[in-house]
Amino acid sequence: MGGGGCETGDSRLGADLRDTNGAKGDFDVSLDQAEQTSDSDVRFHLHSQTNPRGHIENGPFVATRGKGAHVYDDSGKSYIDAMAGLWCTSLGFDNARLAAAASKQYAQLGYYHSFYGRTNPVTAALARKLVELAEIPGGKTYFTTSGSEANESMVKFAWIYHAARGKPTKRKVISRHRAFHGSTIVAASMCGLEMMHREFGLPLPGFIHTLCPDNYTGRLAGETEAAFVARLAFELERQILREGPDTIAAFIAEPVMAGGGIIPPPAGYFEAIQSVLAKYDILLLDDEIVCGFGRTGNWFGFQTVGMKPDMMSMAKGITSSYFPLSAVVMRPEIYEAIEKANAEGTVLGHGFTNGGHPVGAAVALEAIAIYEEMDVVGYVRRIGALLHERLAAACAGSPIAANLRGVGMMYGVELVADPSTGLPFAPARKVGAQLASLAMERGLIVRAMRDTIGFCPPLIVGEAEVEEIGSKFEDSLHALALAGY
Ligand SMILES: Cc1ncc(COP(=O)(O)O)c(C=O)c1O
Repeated sequence: MGGGGCETGDSRLGADLRDTNGAKGDFDVSLDQAEQTSDSDVRFHLHSQTNPRGHIENGPFVATRGKGAHVYDDSGKSYIDAMAGLWCTSLGFDNARLAAAASKQYAQLGYYHSFYGRTNPVTAALARKLVELAEIPGGKTYFTTSGSEANESMVKFAWIYHAARGKPTKRKVISRHRAFHGSTIVAASMCGLEMMHREFGLPLPGFIHTLCPDNYTGRLAGETEAAFVARLAFELERQILREGPDTIAAFIAEPVMAGGGIIPPPAGYFEAIQSVLAKYDILLLDDEIVCGFGRTGNWFGFQTVGMKPDMMSMAKGITSSYFPLSAVVMRPEIYEAIEKANAEGTVLGHGFTNGGHPVGAAVALEAIAIYEEMDVVGYVRRIGALLHERLAAACAGSPIAANLRGVGMMYGVELVADPSTGLPFAPARKVGAQLASLAMERGLIVRAMRDTIGFCPPLIVGEAEVEEIGSKFEDSLHALALAGY
């Protein structure tokens, strides 16, 4: 690599690289560039959760800029993103305060790590703030960079916890069918979705799945909600006894399932589940990756559904996804076990280079300050009620829209062949995907999870955006009816 311009002794080049006035990247996209983007993307970019051949045939969706809850494609067309990207940009797509917080921190200290006891002012401040918000007195925060890493870290901490208390055989983890907890090997094993397992020979042994608490499709004929909950708890206990209580470390759940199809738990679900877990000394891991930071109309989803977590994972809304930062907040007992496991002077053998990144921490502190200033809890309850009302009105005019469900600012609508019986469409008809693509034509981004249409917009949407989402959804439902499903 000799002869290049990057020798450390080249002070002229060094000054050029440090120049803060003349940023070199001009990101305006001309039509030629748009073509180049598509061409480069199709040729060189392998995409997550995308059919490879379909991508070559259809090309990418190219987002070039954002304004509030809207994004613009390379032809200049505007879309309201009713999914906040991937359930994450709670403060929209161009928040100037988050940009300024990142820029200020980049100028002050662009990186430092948290291995070997290192820290920095913003990361330490965020650790404290998260423990306070999580209402876990004496708790500790552990920083990671993605939701999957946070969930995977909770599993490792659960293993340490039980081993340090003389129960090293407690290793298995129970999650629910249809759950989504991430893409790394353990996180994917905890998913209850065949799509996350098929190509990889997952789940790993020791990752077990119990029933999904879907109040709409999960109940038996004539079963009341209370009887359904009792059956879910009974089935969980049966599985625990079958596996052996001494082999089970933890149960992981989202307060309201997101990617599984927006599934709020039936009344009394977590109380019933928790009493089974407590009986067999099984930790409750709370995946707050979508539900955290106001999404359900409380700071955290556990407050909405009556969960009492031992550990919580957070990501997405924590920085409005302006920086890849995630975290685990744990009860003091978990931390004490980690301390005990290293009592002889060993170190916690876990960590990520960018965990607790100061720029991410600065962005998270600013995002949290904005949530506090906007009274995110009150705001989400008020605008969320309007969103629910507007979606209900859209569904009322459609012969196939059923079971509008959700809370705060996350809702799902089920598209079914017969709303009176809940009879689903044949999967091959891909009715949900058809609706999502008709919505896209109308400038509305929603998520089809099979035939459930998901809405999880940025939390900053106002009445006008609620109306835009509702009317474009209504219009898409009409178009779907005209197309004959
Ligand atoms: C509930 C939940 N948990 C975990 C994850 C994984 O997060 P990441 O993609 O940042 O690893 C996601 C991502 O969508 C999620 O929705």
